[in-house]
Amino acid sequence: MTDEFGSGDVTYVEFPAAVSGPAMGPATIATFARPVGCGRTRGSSTAQRNGDCPLIGRSPEMLEVVERLRRVAPSVAAVMLIGESGTGKDIAAQLLHTQSARASGPFVSVNCGAIPANLVEAELFGYERGAFTGAVRQHQGYFERASGGTLFLDEITEMPVALQTKLLRVLESGHIVRVGGTEEIAIDVRIVTATNRLCDTLVRDGLLREDLFYRLAVFLVGLPPLRQRGDDIELLAQAFLARLNREYGTAKRFDPATLAVARTHTWPGNIRELKNCVERSYVLSDGLVSLDVHPVPDVASEVPFSGDGVRFPIGTTMANAERDLLLATLRHCGGNKRRTADMLGVSLKTVYNKLEGYGIAAPLLRAAGER
Ligand SMILES: Nc1ncnc2c1ncn2[C@@H]1O[C@H](COP(=O)(O)OP(=O)(O)O)[C@@H](O)[C@H]1O
Ligand SMILES: [Mg+2]
Repeated sequence: MTDEFGSGDVTYVEFPAAVSGPAMGPATIATFARPVGCGRTRGSSTAQRNGDCPLIGRSPEMLEVVERLRRVAPSVAAVMLIGESGTGKDIAAQLLHTQSARASGPFVSVNCGAIPANLVEAELFGYERGAFTGAVRQHQGYFERASGGTLFLDEITEMPVALQTKLLRVLESGHIVRVGGTEEIAIDVRIVTATNRLCDTLVRDGLLREDLFYRLAVFLVGLPPLRQRGDDIELLAQAFLARLNREYGTAKRFDPATLAVARTHTWPGNIRELKNCVERSYVLSDGLVSLDVHPVPDVASEVPFSGDGVRFPIGTTMANAERDLLLATLRHCGGNKRRTADMLGVSLKTVYNKLEGYGIAAPLLRAAGER
């Protein structure tokens, strides 16, 4: 237990554990080795987005997760991360990589939901020159680019079923063939996958082939929703505030009453929502920070939304169904419009336009988080 955020009452379990060596100031402790060797391409990103963030938490639920990640990281076994949006799946995937023997290799993160269905195969396995119109040169897919490192397949259930069959074949055979090619190329990747769907719906609802599920979920790690993490809510809020204070050279503090309110909020967008909420509240306050814990206030609360789904009675118009779906997704994403757009398979602009069409105040929603 350490206090790295400069606030007397903050303790947290740090994962990865602090490395010994030169003095670990707050700036260094918040940084862990960045994966190298991967470029940014459509549907994929490097780990740098979250690369400066330790996994904060001390609730029993989180300690169990940390312990599991610690044990699993060094092995090459496939890991599936399951948790609601914003619970820390990306960060966990990066930690699995940086704490493995492959840490010096590339970490390639692919959002399966962000690649057009007809391009998934070519993007994953690569293609040869002339394989299809527009294939003007040979192209290495994510499998090849992640060679020697970790391939993180995020939102795995968004992968078209036909591709799931191919993926299974690749994993079983240990080699890929580029689209339009014949050469068998041995793969050398550790696979980590993530989904925000409920575990027991994955196979039952046909989101994942059963055989692929067992292949990918050699280890299952469930990331608990923030509302089940008790004291972690305050811990995280304090950590995010401390980080802002450090960044801007300020000494703002939470109004104690606001932390009690934070505990009763359900945090549908989990840590992402909390982080955005702290940032927004920080900017809006002078010295004493009050959390504005309703980032997407009531605009979506009339939508029949329960955890993972939306219900429409028969007779709902297409326009209303679309509105309810968009607002429920926005709420699920903690007000993050970019993620909402990604999840719905539309552009960010479309989300903005729709919201504007619904007469929902732009500043309010903009405040709800934009990362
Ligand atoms: N345990 C944690 N400690 C600190 N920050 C966290 C933790 N879990 C998540 N975060 C932060 O919350 C945000 C959402 O996390 P992310 O890993 O992207 O969630 P997911 O992939 O499950 O949607 C990121 O900014 C991340 O850095
Ligand atoms: Mg994610």
